[in-house]
Amino acid sequence: MDALEKLKALSKELELINAAVATMAWDQRTYMPPKSAGTRSEAIGYLSTIAFKKFISDETGEIIRELEKEDNFNRLDENEKAMVRIAKREYEKAKAIPPELFQKFTITASKSETVWEQAKKNNDFKSFQPYLEELLEMLREMAELYGYKENPYDALLDKYEPGITTRKLKKIIETLKAELIPFLREIIEQKGKTDPSILYGRFGKKAQEKLSIRALKAIGYDFEAGRLDETVHPFTISLGAGDVRVTTKYDPHFLQPSLYGTFHEGGHALYEQGLPEEFKYTPIYGAVSLGIHESQSRMMENMVARSYEFLKFFYPEIKKVFPKQFGRVSLDRFYRAINHVEPSLIRIEADEVTYNFHIMLRFELEEAMLNKSLEVKDLPRAWNEKIKEYLGIEPQNDAEGVLQDVHWANGMIGYFPSYMLGNLYAAQLFAKAEEEIPKLRKNIEKGNVAVLIEWLRENIHRHGKKYLPEELIKISTGEELNPEYFIRYIKEKYTKIYEI
Ligand code: CO
Repeated sequence: MDALEKLKALSKELELINAAVATMAWDQRTYMPPKSAGTRSEAIGYLSTIAFKKFISDETGEIIRELEKEDNFNRLDENEKAMVRIAKREYEKAKAIPPELFQKFTITASKSETVWEQAKKNNDFKSFQPYLEELLEMLREMAELYGYKENPYDALLDKYEPGITTRKLKKIIETLKAELIPFLREIIEQKGKTDPSILYGRFGKKAQEKLSIRALKAIGYDFEAGRLDETVHPFTISLGAGDVRVTTKYDPHFLQPSLYGTFHEGGHALYEQGLPEEFKYTPIYGAVSLGIHESQSRMMENMVARSYEFLKFFYPEIKKVFPKQFGRVSLDRFYRAINHVEPSLIRIEADEVTYNFHIMLRFELEEAMLNKSLEVKDLPRAWNEKIKEYLGIEPQNDAEGVLQDVHWANGMIGYFPSYMLGNLYAAQLFAKAEEEIPKLRKNIEKGNVAVLIEWLRENIHRHGKKYLPEELIKISTGEELNPEYFIRYIKEKYTKIYEI
């Protein structure tokens, strides 16, 4: 067996273990009986460790070194070269952290999450503070081990969005703030032009489920290669090629979370379902980054499902399922309700105009904490100041402020920016799609979302992990990530809605 075959064999083995782990993880978060929790965690931990040890073995290093030899490397085609690049990148990342540090970090993060849950319940930041401090200390150590050019935070960012840097993010954020803070103020002055109250009421669970299934079908999700189930914190998970599952949650008093949550997760799922069969079991099978993944979900949720064109086609479906609630509600009123903008404290409930501000403040705070320009004990005060500055509101307590998300408790520093990048990539990609697909909006109006999905398959999905996110954006849109597309999208849409 030559080195490339060995790499593919290893990759297949890891993917098969991952498929088993993912199946157990999906079950854990949907149907698993509570008493199984202990055994399940152990089983998942055991299999994950086998896969991890296999991957960081000297043998893997040997295979990569062999493939990198000039004579060997030059004989590879473009996809195979990418396989070696990606395998090397991931191998070096995995090897960078000594197993003892990694284990200590995992244990601390798990304890920290438990403490955070209580702290959030009791509105008690002080009890959580030492855990966050300890996690940050370990992350600083890890950043040194991963290596970086300019800012230790870059090393952490790179885990989630390879290639992006603090410097680039700061520049993007500056542009977004300059344009969107004043624009948001204008929207707030037009309060009353949108009214979301029709989305609240009584919505039976069975009917919501029926609507979520129709929603997924409308955007082209393949039920032969997946399914829809209920959970507490919705997610999408791939159990391997041919099985990409979506979950959602049904709030009996509020329609928005299930319907738009389903469109969101459906966008993630379409990406996974569109990965190329030919990359299966190789290091380049998968999504390129969290940010690009999020762009697929945000495009489906916002640019498609919250558009007037799509609702022209889909709102009748909503009316059919909920005739009592929407029988007398006009499309125009529904469209305005579903695009209501209002600064709010909770990130996951934020509309598309205010959402990025929630991310900016988290990014600024976590970067400052990592670099010790902000002490953890001062975090709640700094949080409250920033949200006041950006959104003009203040939390009544830390539970709805600094303690609201699980990410920091979990040690996931550097993760938040991918949510914002997702919005920006989505706007840029959609603008390009509009340019290249004749009458895209007219097609969407007729329910033909397939033309857009085909475009995404061609320009994003079929490349798997072959490129870096920044390369992929350049190849698919002809230019680097440019926040102007998002600004333009927001201004065009909401100038009309709020008659500014
Ligand atoms: Co998402």
